[in-house]
Amino acid sequence: MRVASHVTAGFSILFAGAAALSAQTAAPPAGTVAVATVGPLGAAKVEGTVRFTQLEHGVRIDAELTGLAPGTHGFHVHEFGDCSAADGSSAGGHFNPDQKAHGGPAMDASHAGDYGNLTADATGRATLSLVSHRIALDRSPAGVLGRSVVVHEKTDDLTSQPAGNAGPRIGCGVIVLEGGPTTPIVKK
Ligand code: CU
Ligand code: ZN
Repeated sequence: MRVASHVTAGFSILFAGAAALSAQTAAPPAGTVAVATVGPLGAAKVEGTVRFTQLEHGVRIDAELTGLAPGTHGFHVHEFGDCSAADGSSAGGHFNPDQKAHGGPAMDASHAGDYGNLTADATGRATLSLVSHRIALDRSPAGVLGRSVVVHEKTDDLTSQPAGNAGPRIGCGVIVLEGGPTTPIVKK
């Protein structure tokens, strides 16, 4: 009897803790999905899909792209959901809500939109899968809905400022909620 009431009390405390935490972060429900359909910029041929899946903690990013030159290509979320310029400049800079320096996804000192590089095989196909704990699928300060995914011609060296010296933008896609309208965030 004593043991049982102890266990019950322990559970209640845990439960209250979890509820308080989720109220604080107010992330969208786990399983929420957003997609960026990436198309080519200029004379490039890159196309593909980047899926964002909200997890209980963090967002999983799954990219599958084709039409790339074999090798590594910088890959980021940029601040504006506007791929209209032929050189991709309308997408703005790297998504950087924390005012940090450019880096790589495993580095604390990095933009929230820094995902390193895609590695294309001999056929020009690249896949990437990672989890970010610094973004959300909403319109909060950490939100990426209505922003864009950008693929670069060259390698992101994860060091050079402000954007890793990754060269021209060759692919771009706006991040929209799956099955729902998303108003792009554009430069004012
Ligand atoms: Cu970029
Ligand atoms: Zn960056």
